[in-house]
Amino acid sequence: MTTVCEYKPGLEGIPVAQSSISYVDGQKGILEYRGIRIEELAAKSTFLETAYLLIWGNLPTKEELDNFENEIRYHRRIKYRIRDMMKCFPETGHPMDALQASAAALGLFYSKRALDNPDYIREAVVRLLAKIPTMVAAFKLMRKGNDPVQPNDDLDYAANFLYMLNERKPDPLAAKVLDICLTLHAEHTMNASTFSAMVTASTLTDPYAVVASAVGTLAGPLHGGANEEVIDMLEEIGSIENVRSYIDDCLKYKKKIMGFGHRVYKVKDPRATILQDLAEQMFEKFGHDKYYDIALELERVVEEKLGHRGIYANVDFYSGLVYRKLEIPTDLFTPIFAIARVAGWLAHWKEQLAENRIFRPTQIYTGFHDEPYIEITER
Ligand code: ACO
Repeated sequence: MTTVCEYKPGLEGIPVAQSSISYVDGQKGILEYRGIRIEELAAKSTFLETAYLLIWGNLPTKEELDNFENEIRYHRRIKYRIRDMMKCFPETGHPMDALQASAAALGLFYSKRALDNPDYIREAVVRLLAKIPTMVAAFKLMRKGNDPVQPNDDLDYAANFLYMLNERKPDPLAAKVLDICLTLHAEHTMNASTFSAMVTASTLTDPYAVVASAVGTLAGPLHGGANEEVIDMLEEIGSIENVRSYIDDCLKYKKKIMGFGHRVYKVKDPRATILQDLAEQMFEKFGHDKYYDIALELERVVEEKLGHRGIYANVDFYSGLVYRKLEIPTDLFTPIFAIARVAGWLAHWKEQLAENRIFRPTQIYTGFHDEPYIEITER
């Protein structure tokens, strides 16, 4: 057994897997899925085609893509017993908690496990990609006491999600923009939620437990939850004039400025650049958002003060502004991240299964030895 004695908090810089799914160059601001630049996929691909690429390692032919899309369309509905279960969730609960519970519940309904069977892998991939958006949209409506909207088979993946969420067919630009957002969030090498998914996968449990554990990890404010906090922060700042004093206070009290900084990127996250462009397209068609002006000033001042330390806008900084224009409530921003990242988690699940070894790291013990047991009456 190899014993690595140096302890690295947060496993910084320690490889935990060999993977051919995605690649990041944090100094140059490059992100590739299976070797293809994110800018190219955002411009030319669709989310489902990208999901196929991530999971199976190649761009699908027309026929393969049609079949994949049709299977997903067919599996979008969720069982009424899952809807009934979700109806019992407290309306004040966070949608990420609702999603985590619902994703785990899928394992109860599809309990057959055949991890070495490619048909089982495909079925699980299709079910998860198909049903997670339906569950997110259903909780949004059911927490207000409304019935969920059934999926619309005439609509593509992103358009159908917006339809179930906002109870009307979306504008084509809105659907296209959401689809690109999903592509941008689909995968990002090794990160907390992907690692969580892989640790869970390595025990050979079912894929629904894998996704549920990853959803729970993504929910935290240092990971996927930051996109919600960006909007809260912009609201708190309130005007361009307050930006500088807000940043000065953050730096003085060592408070993180949400939507900035990244363990890997030391330049502006390439996804933030694309999302900023999408936000501008949305403002042009659907009207301006005053928070964008605050965001621009915030980015300018953060760059001025923290750019030399490699702290720049990350993927979460502009995504919330896009989602606001799509009429998506703030607490659904992270669930949308999850809808997209299911593709990456499943790609890593499949890759992990191909050469599985259970994760069992070690620790450096810092406690006592040979301590006496003190009777409760004497403590
Ligand atoms: N605002 C102010 N200071 C920052 C920020 C920030 N957003 N990010 C990093 N720093 C500073 C830290 O205060 C720290 O300074 P110090 O060395 O003087 O103590 C230094 O930079 C290193 O910060 P760490 O948190 O140790 O860096 P790490 O690589 O662990 O963190 C992280 C990356 C967690 C993303 C961090 O930048 C952060 O908390 N950002 C805000 C939350 C956020 O936007 N998260 C989304 C990330 S993208 C994603 O998960 C999808």
